[in-house]
Order: sequence, then structure tokens, then C-alpha cells
Amino acid sequence: MYKIAVIPGDGTGPEVIREGLKVLDAAAKKYNFKYDSKIFDFGGELYLKTGKTLEDKDIEELKKYSAILETGILLKLRFSLDQYINLRPVKLYNAGFCPLKDKNPEDIDFVVVRENSEGLYKGMGEFKDKGTKDEVAIQVSYNTRKGVERCIRYAFEYCRRRNRRKKLTLCGKTNVLTFAWDLWQRTFDEVAKEYPDITTDYAHVDATTMWFVKNPEWFDVIVTDNMFGDIITDLGAMIQGGMGIAAGGNINPQGVSMFEPIGGSAPKYTGKNVINPLAAICALGMCLENLGEPEAAKAVEDAVIKIVKTKLKSLAAGKMGYSTSEVGDLVVENL
Ligand code: IPM
Ligand code: MN
Repeated sequence: MYKIAVIPGDGTGPEVIREGLKVLDAAAKKYNFKYDSKIFDFGGELYLKTGKTLEDKDIEELKKYSAILETGILLKLRFSLDQYINLRPVKLYNAGFCPLKDKNPEDIDFVVVRENSEGLYKGMGEFKDKGTKDEVAIQVSYNTRKGVERCIRYAFEYCRRRNRRKKLTLCGKTNVLTFAWDLWQRTFDEVAKEYPDITTDYAHVDATTMWFVKNPEWFDVIVTDNMFGDIITDLGAMIQGGMGIAAGGNINPQGVSMFEPIGGSAPKYTGKNVINPLAAICALGMCLENLGEPEAAKAVEDAVIKIVKTKLKSLAAGKMGYSTSEVGDLVVENL
């Protein structure tokens, strides 16, 4: 029995999560597993009504779950639940939806493993002489050997399991950020010795963005820090067809993980039944894979691929040729 916590969040969140739950229900029936889901209303609306965001007791409650499907209240959950991996697949399902010329699904199929608990996101730093003309603002990138190593190890293991090109690229900035990336590079090289079956590679983050556009087929698995991972995965989402299809997992391999569409809450489309729910549905697929239901996960992905290839006119809100709920229904029909 899986216990799934559902956090629909704000804006179009509830609309896309509803479709994700529809697909979860169909997958559970077909693949014979049981789950219990509970909705948590954390988000901006709750905050405006009650002043409440996310309290320690909420975190304790969420720790009892097998997984979380969510679209809001991100950073506190990632840190409190030590979801130290942010896994973001970049996969093109239909060449027609790729903004790059002459790129096909076999060219765009890689995964970014983003460190999710440290780096510039740690919130370390200070102001000096705030508000004066001599003001200084310092924001520290915090990297621990243990934090870096657990992320890099996860990436090697993931690359081996994925078994596609067995190539792992470290994406960093060793030429300028000489403390943080020295630690990353040394850790990467040491861990690599334990994985002789994996080809390793290094790319500076700026060059990485260039190659996402020019030669995305060079990549298989990429491992990077929190900030660079944030930036390159938005570009990744665009080359796979946009935010409408981009999903991610915030993973604590030993604890509770959380799966989400990686885009925002698209307030201008709220309540219109036009937003694309496929990113939320793909997040559900990743959630099923992580729970140990690989067949159900594959079936969800195959159903998504099928409708992306044969039904949808576009992946953008309002241009799909179907409403949000109709897209959910199509996925269920194809499951
Ligand atoms: C993401 C988002 C978040 C991040 C924001 C909303 C804090 O952009 O999940 O990539 O920066 O990690
Ligand atoms: Mn982001």
C-alpha cells in the first residue's frame, strides 16, 4: 500500500495534479497495486488566508508518506526531507515540438542529476552595510565532500542502470569557481575509478548550454550542482518541447521523495482547463518508477509518447487541440 501525499499548490497546479491522479488511479487498477492519497493544501492561497506556510509538524506528517506529488512549497520540503537529488529527464517525444532544427527523439534523450541540498541554495551569506552606498551582498556556495560525493555516486549508479550510452558528464566551472569545482572534480575523478564501465567527460556550464542547442546528442547523464542544474534544466525543458512536458523528481534514496512538473503555476491560465497536464502525468510516471512499479511507469510513459506523437497539435497551453482534462483522459485510454 503506497501512501501518496498530494500537494496541488497554486494556479494551474490543482488542474494538472487532478489529471495525474486520474492516471494514477487507472495505473493502480491495471497494474494491481494499492495506494492511499491525501491532499495537502500548502501554497500561496493558504498563506494568504491563514499566514501559514509549512510548519515542522507538516514535515513530520509528510515523512510518513511513500511519495509526494507536488507543485508548490518547494525549497523547504527539499531541504527538510533531504531530497538531495533532483532528477530531470530531458527527452523529446515528437520532433515536431522541438524548437531546434533537424533534431529527432534519438538526439534528445539525456538526464540531468542536479545536486538538490547545497550550493548557492544553502542560503548562506550576508549583507554588509545594507542600504548604504558601500553595501556588499555575499552569497556563498556551500559544498561538502559528503554532499558532493553522494550526488556523484547517485549519478554513476543511475547512468549504469539507465544503460544507454553509459556516459556521465560533469558540468561545472572549474576555470573560475576554483574552490567548489576543485572539490567536485576531485570527487568525480575518484568515484569514477569505481565505475570503469562508465565513460566520463567534463563540460563547463556555459559550453553545456551551447551544446544543448548544437549537439544535444552528446549527452547521456549529466551531474551538476544546484544552481547550474536549475539553469540548464530550464533550457533542457525547452528543447524537449517546453514546460508542458518537463517533469522532475526530488529524491531522497533513503527517504521520502517528491515528484513535480518543473514549471511554475502559470497564473494566467488558472481555471481555464487549457494547461498541459503531461508534465504532471510524467511526474507521476517517475513517482511510480521510484516506488518500484517499473511496468506501470513505462506504461504511463508509453501512453504519453503515443498521444504526443499522434494526437496533440502542440504542447503549449491552449494550443494542444484538447483541454487539460481531455489530455488526461487520452492518457488513461492509452494506458
Ligand atoms: C525549480 C525552480 C525552483 C528552484 C524555484 C521555484 C525555487 O525554479 O524547481 O527549478 O530554483 O529550484
Ligand atoms: Mn528552476
